[in-house]
Formats: sequence, structure tokens, C-alpha cells
Amino acid sequence: MEALRVEGLSRNFGGVSAVDNVSFGVEVGERLVIIGPNGAGKTTLFNLINGQLPATSGRIYFLGKDITTMPTHGRAHLGQARAFQIISLFLNLSVLDNALLALHGTNPYRFKLFRPMNDYEFISDKVQETLKALDLWEKKDELVKNLSYGEQRRMEIGLSLALQPKLLLLDEPSAGLTMEECSGIIDMIKNLGLEITVIIVDHDMDLVFGVAERIIVLHYGQIIADGAPEQIQADPRVKEIYLGIEE
Ligand SMILES: Nc1ncnc2c1ncn2[C@@H]1O[C@H](COP(=O)(O)OP(=O)(O)O)[C@@H](O)[C@H]1O
Ligand SMILES: [Mg+2]
Repeated sequence: MEALRVEGLSRNFGGVSAVDNVSFGVEVGERLVIIGPNGAGKTTLFNLINGQLPATSGRIYFLGKDITTMPTHGRAHLGQARAFQIISLFLNLSVLDNALLALHGTNPYRFKLFRPMNDYEFISDKVQETLKALDLWEKKDELVKNLSYGEQRRMEIGLSLALQPKLLLLDEPSAGLTMEECSGIIDMIKNLGLEITVIIVDHDMDLVFGVAERIIVLHYGQIIADGAPEQIQADPRVKEIYLGIEE
């Protein structure tokens, strides 16, 4: 079953075709990485998938449903989550409280803000599970502001995960991270359950080749290659336009 399908998707900004007639499908559970030079249209493509920007033309299907004109909150409700580059945590609250708040939006007790903690047992299990998967359980009582930048990034992605998304969109998760922090993010992505489909935009080759089952290369808004990592690495056009730039 397909989690996502885009068909003939385009987005223009004045005279610029930021995304130009792009078509692809993503199977449920797939780990797709999108690469391409700066300005290739990667973030714009995410904005279209997530509904931050309307498409100029083309269609977008999420789990078989046409969501082309659906607002972002509708897509979130259907199970899309996106972790932004901006850290969006409550810095003066603990790791545990941040996780509880993130889960709060989807649990049946959400209108009873002042319930004692033990009433949250149902969510606490979920929180524990999520924080353990993120390797942040040991730090559950730490204030978020005292975490490293890498841990904050992991935490932030963790909060989008707490909402149990079906599709996770990560735009440059390695940005600003040390190599060690980046490898933490790679592990975290690898530990995600296969019920979550993951699409990642990133430049870090350890991350790209560490998690990708498939890579799409964008160039001037168009797909110039789409295939398994080995295929992409061997593709002469990709080497010339993209990987060549890295060398
Ligand atoms: N809001 C916008 N208004 C005008 N042009 C934009 C806007 N967003 C992106 N662009 C242009 O669209 C192209 C693709 O940008 P972007 O999607 O950010 O690329 P990438 O994420 O691959 O670096 C670039 O030429 C960029 O200048
Ligand atoms: Mg971008």
C-alpha cells in the first residue's frame, strides 16, 4: 500500500519552477531520502506534501486519499508529522513534561488539564516507550534547556513521534549537529517502527546512506534520479551534478 503519491506536482514562484512536474509514490514503511543541491526544491516539496504551500498544479494523495487542497491541520489529523529545523520545545520544562504535553493533544483526557499524574498512566506508558526509543528516558527529569542541541533535536523529533504519525517528514535533521549527535539521529530513525513511513531531506552522506532504502535526486525542481542507494551512487548524472559538488 502506498503512504504517499504525488502526481505531476508543480509549484512556481513568479518565474521560478521550484517544483516542476514531480511524480513519485512511497510505500508504507519505506525510508526515502531526497537529496539535491541548494535551491533544488526539496523544502518546497515538503511544504506541498504537508500543506504549508498550495500546489500550482498536480495532485497529492496520502494513504489513498486526495489531499491536494486539504489544509495542514487536516493532513496532521490524517497522520502527517513534520519536524521543523527550529527547536520548538518548552525549554523550562522537563523532558517528561514536554513529552506528556505532546501526547496530550491526542489522548482522551485532554480536556482535564489538572488531573493528578497517576491518571496519566495510559499516556505514561506511551511516553516511556517513546523516550526510551529516543534514548532520553534516563534524562526524563532534566530540563530541556540543559540538554545538548543534539538531544533537543532528538527530543523535538520525538514529540512529532509521540503523535504516532503515519508519515514523518524530516527536513535536514542533521543540520547543526556534531558527528556524534548526527549518529544519534541516524540510530533513532533506524529504530522507528515500520508502520511509520519516513521521508528525509538531508546533505549528510552518513545519514543519507545510513538510512535510505531509496533515494530521489532533485535538480532544478525535477527528479533526475530515483532508485536504490547503490544505483544513485553509480549514476553518472548524479555524480556530475550533485555528488561531484561535494568532492
Ligand atoms: N517562498 C518563496 N518565495 C519565492 N521563491 C521561493 C520561495 N521558497 C522557495 N523559493 C525558491 O524556490 C527554489 C527552491 O527552494 P527550496 O525548496 O527552498 O530548495 P531546497 O530546499 O532544495 O534548498 C529556490 O530557487 C528558491 O529561491
Ligand atoms: Mg531546504
